[in-house]
Amino acid sequence: MKLPYCPHASMSQSTLILECTEADLRKAGELIRGGELVVFPTETVYGLGANALDPKACRKIFQAKGRPTDNPLIVHLSSLDQIPRYTRNVPAMHLKLLERCMPGPITFVLPKAPAIPDIVTAGLPTVALRIPSLEEARKLISYAGVPIAAPSANLSGEPSPTTFEMAYHAMAGRVAAIVRGRMCDVGLESSVVRLEKNRLELLRPGYITVETLLKLGEEFGLEVVDMSQVLVEKPASPGTKYTHYKPKATVYLFSSLEDVLSPLLSIPPTTRILCTEQSGSKDMLDRILSMGIDTVVFKNITDYARQLFFQFHRADEEGISTILAYYPPPAGIGLALRNRLIKASGGRFV
Ligand code: TXA
Ligand code: MG
Repeated sequence: MKLPYCPHASMSQSTLILECTEADLRKAGELIRGGELVVFPTETVYGLGANALDPKACRKIFQAKGRPTDNPLIVHLSSLDQIPRYTRNVPAMHLKLLERCMPGPITFVLPKAPAIPDIVTAGLPTVALRIPSLEEARKLISYAGVPIAAPSANLSGEPSPTTFEMAYHAMAGRVAAIVRGRMCDVGLESSVVRLEKNRLELLRPGYITVETLLKLGEEFGLEVVDMSQVLVEKPASPGTKYTHYKPKATVYLFSSLEDVLSPLLSIPPTTRILCTEQSGSKDMLDRILSMGIDTVVFKNITDYARQLFFQFHRADEEGISTILAYYPPPAGIGLALRNRLIKASGGRFV
C-alpha cells in the first residue's frame, strides 16, 4: 500500500493503519482501552484519542501534539446516558437541551465528576463533552468501553486534519494507530458552548451557529452570550488564546474580490486565492480568472468551511507561498470561518 509522505517516520513507533470495519474499529477500541493513542475520524475533524480515564494515556496526547498542558481536552462519549457519570448536578432542563443537540458537531462544558482526571480538564472544575454524529466515531468509543479524550489530530498550532492523509502526515510515528475514514463533512471543529444556570455561552464558534443557539435559548429560557468574540485576559476557552490553524504559507484576508483587484496590490507569483461564488460580482470573478491567478472557488461558505484546512494543507504541499482568503460576513457558519481565518492570518488583510 502506498502511504503519503511522513515527515516523522524516522522517530517512529510504527503506526498501524486501520479501516472503518467492525474488526478494525474493535481493534482501535482495544488500543485506546490499553492506554495507546489512536487517531480517528469524526464529522468535524480527525481526533487524537486516548482513554479519558487514564491520566498517563492522556499525558501522551500533549506530548504527541506538542500541546501546552493548560489547554483542556474534549471528552467524547458514544451516548447520552453516559453524561451523568462524568458530570455533576446537571439540571433536568439542561439534560433536555443536551438531548436536543447531541450527537452533533457541538461540545458542552459542564461541571465535572471526579472520574475525569485533572490532566483532561487542565485542573478546571468543568469538563467539555461531545458525542460525535459520525457513526464510526461512536462505534469506536463504544468498543473502547471508556470515554475518549481527543483534541484535533494536528501538531499544536497547525490546521486541523480533515482527511486521512492530513492526519497521517501529522501523526504517523507518534501514535499506535490511525483509523482511515473519509473526508470530514463539517471541516471545522465543533462549536464549544458552556451551559451555566441561566445562560448558554458560546466559547468557540463552529457548525452549530449562533442563530441556532438563539432559538434554543428562547425555547429553554436561557440567555445566549457570544463569548468567542470577546478578547479577555483569561479566555473562557483556554485553547482560544493560542495562535492556531496556521499553514506555512502567509495568509492575507479580503472582504471582497474588489480588494484583490486593487491596482495597488502586487500579487506574488506563488499566490492562491480562496473564495466563494459570493465573494464578489460574477464580472470580478471572471476578471480574476482571466488574469490567470491560481484561484479556488467554492460554491458557498459551507463548502468553504469544509475545505479550508484541506486547502491550507494542499497549498503547503504545492509550495504556495501566499494565500489570499475570503473573509465572509459573520452570518451562519461565516462566524466560525472568520474565527479560524483571523487566527490563521494573524488578522492581516490585503
Ligand atoms: O470538533 C472538535 O471539537 C474536535 C474533534 C476531534 O472532536 N476536537 C477539538 O479539540 O477541536 P481541541 O482540543 O482542538 O479543542 C478543544 C477546545 C479548546 O479550545 C479547549 O480550550 C476547549 O475546547 N475546552 C476544553 N475543555 C474546556 C473546559 N473545561 N472549559 C472551557 N473550554 C474547554
Ligand atoms: Mg485543535
